[in-house]
Amino acid sequence: MKQSDILATEKQLGYISESANALKIAEENKGRKLTASVVTFGCQMNARDSEKLAGILVSAGFELLEDTEDADFVLYNTCTVRDNANQKLYGHLGEVHSRKKKNPEMMVGICGCLPQEPSAFERLKKSYSFVDLIFGTHNLYAFPEYLSRLLSGERHIYEIMDHSDNIVEDLPVLRKYPFKSGVNIMFGCNNFCTYCIVPHVRGRERSRESADILAEIKKLADSGVKEVMLLGQNVNSYGNGLADEISFPELLKRTCDVPGIERVRFMTSHPKDLSDELIKTIKENDKICRHLHLPLQSGSTKVLKEMNRRYTKEQYIDLALKIRNEIPDLAMTTDIMVGFPGETAADVDDTIDVINKVKYDNAFTFIYSKRMGTPAAVREDQVPETLVKESFDRVLKVVQDTAKEQSLRWQGQVLDALVEEENSSMDGYVTGRLSNNMIVHFEGCKEMIGNIVPVRLDECRGFYYMGSRA
Ligand code: 5AD
Ligand code: SF4
Repeated sequence: MKQSDILATEKQLGYISESANALKIAEENKGRKLTASVVTFGCQMNARDSEKLAGILVSAGFELLEDTEDADFVLYNTCTVRDNANQKLYGHLGEVHSRKKKNPEMMVGICGCLPQEPSAFERLKKSYSFVDLIFGTHNLYAFPEYLSRLLSGERHIYEIMDHSDNIVEDLPVLRKYPFKSGVNIMFGCNNFCTYCIVPHVRGRERSRESADILAEIKKLADSGVKEVMLLGQNVNSYGNGLADEISFPELLKRTCDVPGIERVRFMTSHPKDLSDELIKTIKENDKICRHLHLPLQSGSTKVLKEMNRRYTKEQYIDLALKIRNEIPDLAMTTDIMVGFPGETAADVDDTIDVINKVKYDNAFTFIYSKRMGTPAAVREDQVPETLVKESFDRVLKVVQDTAKEQSLRWQGQVLDALVEEENSSMDGYVTGRLSNNMIVHFEGCKEMIGNIVPVRLDECRGFYYMGSRA
């Protein structure tokens, strides 16, 4: 860790103590504990960030609530990858505003990707002035400071930075699950796909030093974590720009070697730089989960070029089939986008052709959403809504049919499941996750949570299994 990062961490830990003192006084005045709730939108990165935000809140002395209804402090950790995420947030803000009118002492905060967009930041400041705190992705580590200012009565703390100098380690984290955890290995993205806002709101790619990552994983394992998910927008370029750093496959191997770690996942891989070394590493290490998320986006070489994806339809198919061939028990999932500017019915046929050839185990299908500031947004050949809808339905049908066929292939097998929770709708049942990322429900009790147990996959019901202890 850099000296400046260590100092930045110490400073923030100091603000947590200040917040704790201020909270004690507030508690005495109110005669009860103060409560907080973190609402998370978006991807695994945001989920991990929310665990950090929650850790800071709890360390300061807040009681954390699932529900925002009765919270003294509501913090929204936002996403802006597609417009529907933004609309969802604005809906929530309308609700929380009416609550704040009744209870002016409550505090509202917004952080994450959305305010990192200049136009959204302006809109929030102008039309949502009841919001007390706004900060972005680059200054998330400074949340303890903002919290302490908020608790000493300051309002309208609106701070956005356009890049990060620090990677602040070792602030408190409150994990959602005691037995599994995400671990950031890098931040930001340098790929600039022409539709994507991520490089604009999360900044340039920065890798964490492997020694820091492995020390964090060791600490997690010591505290009972069995499964880690290494997180980055493009994990295959891990280590670029760092002196003497190791490759991503090497990082995976060293993660597997940490005592106590039984499963390793990672997210997300860009097809353009997925190496043979990575395929070999997955194949040779049982602890690396049999699941690969390999975003396709489009099957048309013309569209892929305009998206700046830097692979062709044929290159993608070759790669996917090579992986399928090398590791037959691996489940492959993907992201597909429909309605990118200029996309024709013939381009969609190409996408469908790839789906039919690769046969994904599951696929997330998105309608292209215009993001301000990206090159694709200013194109004049935006696709009419009716064609998008038609294409979306066509793609979805093939995705569902092929995924159904793929999911069935595990039926009758006995596979290890990490028990994650009690089943909420069936008494006496628990829910486990297989190495291939599928879900299985089977008879069990809450004492099994956090254990890895063999389960017979009796019956495939679409995207999940009903099973029994083997
Ligand atoms: N519109 C629709 N989907 C998008 N994604 C990224 N940007 C956009 C956009 N502008 C999708 C991609 C990516 C996933 C995380 O979100 O498919 O892989
Ligand atoms: Fe966005 Fe492309 Fe980076 Fe993924 S790789 S975050 S789609 S720019």
